[in-house]
Amino acid sequence: MSFTLSELPYDYDALAPYMSRETLEYHHDKHHQAYVTNGNNLLKGTEFEGQSLEEIVKNSFGKNVPLFNNAGQHYNHMHFWNWMKPNGGGDKLPGRLAKKIDEDLGGFEKFKADFIAAGVGQFGSGWAWLSVKNGKLEISKTGNGENPLVHGATPILGVDVWEHSYYIDYRNRRPDYLKAFVENLVNWDYVDQLFEKA
Ligand SMILES: [Fe+2]
Repeated sequence: MSFTLSELPYDYDALAPYMSRETLEYHHDKHHQAYVTNGNNLLKGTEFEGQSLEEIVKNSFGKNVPLFNNAGQHYNHMHFWNWMKPNGGGDKLPGRLAKKIDEDLGGFEKFKADFIAAGVGQFGSGWAWLSVKNGKLEISKTGNGENPLVHGATPILGVDVWEHSYYIDYRNRRPDYLKAFVENLVNWDYVDQLFEKA
């Protein structure tokens, strides 16, 4: 297989004012495109050709760093666009997922605080995650292009905390970006689909 860049699932203006057209144009059309292009070049002629994207991410981890970085970031961003929607966010979650957050993470407000804290606490570039591991929800953070797949977990929500994700709209105010992401952008239906599959 080769990596391909899908269109955004909404218009470039659709997430404003929480994420601007300019951010989406640079982040999707330039940054994500570069991960796809570089990933395809690095994949050619390797033992990983012919594997699924998830397999390439898991199998190249620790073995082929440049390929892993680009394949990981392609996987992360492919989901990231779908983890957001216009008029998203807030605490109106599908029932089973809401119950699981209550059971495993101490309720929605605690989830929100801990998820934002994970993103704020990631030193430098990386991601904050909500994942399913051994049947339980957990919050984590990773550096650069790494993700929970390589730690035996299935990510169901992730937020990009590389500066390219928020610097145009929020400058250095990463906590404000993360708060807006949870309160106004999260596509809980997509999170729930991944939760049901995990
Ligand atoms: Fe990004």
